[in-house]
Amino acid sequence: MSFPESFMQELKLRNDISDVVSSYVSLKRAGRNMVGLCPFHGEKTPSFTVYPESGSFFCFGCETGGDVITFIMKQENLDYAEAVRFLAQRVGLDVPEGGFDDSMSRLRMRVYEANREAARYFYSALYSPGGRAGLDYFYSRALSDRTIRHFGLGYADDNWTSLCSHLKSKDFSESELVAANLAVRRRDGNGIYDRFTSRVMFPIIDLRGNVIAFGGRILTDEKPKYLNTSDTPVFKKSANLFSLNNAKNSGTRTLILCEGYMDVIAVCQAGIPNAVATLGTALTAEQAMLMKRYSDEVILCYDSDEAGQRATSRAIPILRNAGLNVRVLTIPNGKDPDEFIRSREADGPAAFRALLEKSGNDVEYRLQKLKQNYNTDLPEGRVGYLEEASKILAAIDSPIERDIYASRLCKEFELDKGAFAKQLEKLDKSRFRENRKQENRKLQNEISGRNDKINSDHYKKPRSSSAEEALVIYLINNPDSCSEIQREIKPEQFKNSLMRRFYEYFSERIQNGLDPTTSIAGDFSSDEVSKLYQLQSRMSSVAATESSMREYIKVINEESRRLSKDEIATMSPEALSDYLKTIRMNRQ
Ligand code: CTP
Ligand code: MN
Repeated sequence: MSFPESFMQELKLRNDISDVVSSYVSLKRAGRNMVGLCPFHGEKTPSFTVYPESGSFFCFGCETGGDVITFIMKQENLDYAEAVRFLAQRVGLDVPEGGFDDSMSRLRMRVYEANREAARYFYSALYSPGGRAGLDYFYSRALSDRTIRHFGLGYADDNWTSLCSHLKSKDFSESELVAANLAVRRRDGNGIYDRFTSRVMFPIIDLRGNVIAFGGRILTDEKPKYLNTSDTPVFKKSANLFSLNNAKNSGTRTLILCEGYMDVIAVCQAGIPNAVATLGTALTAEQAMLMKRYSDEVILCYDSDEAGQRATSRAIPILRNAGLNVRVLTIPNGKDPDEFIRSREADGPAAFRALLEKSGNDVEYRLQKLKQNYNTDLPEGRVGYLEEASKILAAIDSPIERDIYASRLCKEFELDKGAFAKQLEKLDKSRFRENRKQENRKLQNEISGRNDKINSDHYKKPRSSSAEEALVIYLINNPDSCSEIQREIKPEQFKNSLMRRFYEYFSERIQNGLDPTTSIAGDFSSDEVSKLYQLQSRMSSVAATESSMREYIKVINEESRRLSKDEIATMSPEALSDYLKTIRMNRQ
């Protein structure tokens, strides 16, 4: 089941891919195509290409590709039906009702609604007589009523069914509440109970203002201190950040990354609205890319305990790889931002601002950490420190930035600049060699297809797969040749299972007079769609002529007559001799 074809054509026609992509990525013209920095992985030189003619995109860096619908699915974190609605709304097109099986979209909608109602319920519970313990807890942590309202904080009481009963009275079903992870099914299968009890509640809100999850903190020293919503149809821990919905409107291109909910809230209450936090897991590349959409610089503001410092060192390269500048704020005396601000009482906000301004960049931070491991009063300590420090500098991409730190180190240790420069140059070369080795390895793997999980048959059957891939691309670029190709090649002859599915799908659509790729994002997985556009961007020029098409047909015919080792092993001697004869004939 799918949306009507005419609607899909209209939708794609009106949503020109370069227009749509341009509102997220700044694109430059490159011949017939457009290029820009990929929004799906961190990069400094553009490998993200938009092909206006075919209405598609492909990134040569992370190999993500697709059409305008795929792009919106990924960029806005929507499923297929939601992305179609999003694009329809963008151009004022009515979405035909019915027909499409959007039970998943409907469930997601219900989960959003249940979460919103739950957030309202927790908030009013906080201010009800039964919520006194929660409200006192927040007051004891110096939160004002205004801050509580701003973040929509709440309270889940100690009754195991109060939220469930409330939401059931609002017509939510048990399975919807379980899907939202607001409730848990009882082990005996009879009914459900609340996931969160006896906790103060922190709603997590996405960039469109939907409540997507909750964190809940216990009021005592019991464990676990925080309980978070598990991943649900609308929530992926590793792809969201707490309070990014507030921070993105702060009017700066800087974000402050903290460890915890309470840190973000305390920093915000101190008048600094651009703080965010991860959700109980280590920072991911996906979160870094998300931050990159709203900022150019991230100030890391983790706890100053050892765990926090380790997390800082791990976060630096992840943020840098996403193309972000990084600064590190170090809080004195082993505190976290919330404790620091409170410990200074009325001075807290100003004292925290001073720390923010003082925060050095990541290179300074790493050099300073490194220096703590060496006694630089001794010559061997100095040698050790400078050798390690030169490795940090050699890894900096910008020559100007590198030179600034080199000069500073030389000055500090009364070092000859020439000698230090030589050391850096040596490291640079070996880094270059290492990079090239890695690239080569990657290229080798790509060519052999060894690591290709989506198109795994390519590696097992390289010759037939290559021909089948090229024929599929030729077919979608030249739909007119469909009947001719179909006369020559039956789907059963394909040895590569993904290519066979593409071949069947595209030839059926073309036969029915439809554009081959209009609904591709709804009918194949996003990885499969990426694979198709990867092949298209690689093969369109090679697979362009009719004579190359005949060559592919010939190879597919040859390969499909070839039997597998297993089949040969179980053959009768007569059949085997017949088979060998046909092979020899084909060779001539
Ligand atoms: N966290 C979690 N589960 C836990 C402990 C922590 O998900 N059992 C996450 C929470 O998002 C928390 C963050 O990790 O906000 C930082 O944890 P921690 O430093 O232990 O807590 P604080 O944020 O300092 O919380 P509080 O000030 O309330 O003690
Ligand atoms: Mn804390």
